[in-house]
Amino acid sequence: MLRLGGLGLWLGLAIAAAAVLTARLLGWWSPGAGIRLFIPEELARYRGGPRDPGLYLALLGRVYDVSSGRRHYEPGAHYSGFAGRDASRAFVTGDYSEGGLVDDVSGLSFSEMLTLQNWISFYEKNYEFVGKVIGRFYGEDGLPTTELAQVEAMITRGLEANKQELKEKKKFPPCNVEWSSTRGSRFWCSQKSGGVSRDWTGVPRKLYKPGTKESHCVCVRTTGPPSDQRLDSPAHRNRGDLDHPNLREYAGCPPHATTCFLPL
Ligand code: HEM
Repeated sequence: MLRLGGLGLWLGLAIAAAAVLTARLLGWWSPGAGIRLFIPEELARYRGGPRDPGLYLALLGRVYDVSSGRRHYEPGAHYSGFAGRDASRAFVTGDYSEGGLVDDVSGLSFSEMLTLQNWISFYEKNYEFVGKVIGRFYGEDGLPTTELAQVEAMITRGLEANKQELKEKKKFPPCNVEWSSTRGSRFWCSQKSGGVSRDWTGVPRKLYKPGTKESHCVCVRTTGPPSDQRLDSPAHRNRGDLDHPNLREYAGCPPHATTCFLPL
């Protein structure tokens, strides 16, 4: 049996360390669950050119093999700027200049973060996940950075805001609107207006954004308890949401009319 002496042991360890480093730099090995880690320089080799080892792109630090979508990403193709790097920001801005093809997503809004999440879902569904990029979103240990945690928190908040918006839209579905240069505007409610299918029609009202002078036309339920009131709560005035404080009637429109005209 081979026994390593003091020097041999150090040499063995040094060789092993160098091998790990090389493998890490070349992206062949990563600690933990067999996930491959890339340094950006290694990922940059995967641009789909004739001598390149493949065609990859990264989004929020996650690397996907997009070779089956070669026609979009290969050199010269419309989205070739995404290949071989993490250009998360450009997935939102559509800025495919070198300055725009970057992974810095700071300052994006909640809904823009949701756009990124939709792109992640798209790549998860259509392409193979092959690893992670060490840098902005993943550390050398392959674990998420605080920056990625912040992005994920924004996505969660964005999803919650969307859920809330959907709830509001069910409560106050937008009106149908028609405009004519001779007759002016017509607002009316129907059981599908605003794309919200329901068993009531409602009446048009202006709904004001709290603290602003901005309003838009919504259909308001006229019977039953207010939406914010529990069903088992005591007597209500059977006026639906008509008494909501952010609502105003349209001038010249009877309070129970389902159609309102706003002449020029
Ligand atoms: C922020 C803006 C945009 C981004 C980030 C973006 C990104 C992309 C990406 C990554 C693909 C390839 C998807 C795949 O792998 O299958 C794609 C495909 C496509 N995009 Fe865009 N796009 C944007 C805006 C637009 C606009 C404004 C149009 C049209 C006016 C458009 C038209 C298309 C079409 C037609 C395809 C499919 C092409 C095909 O199947 O051959 N894109 N887009």
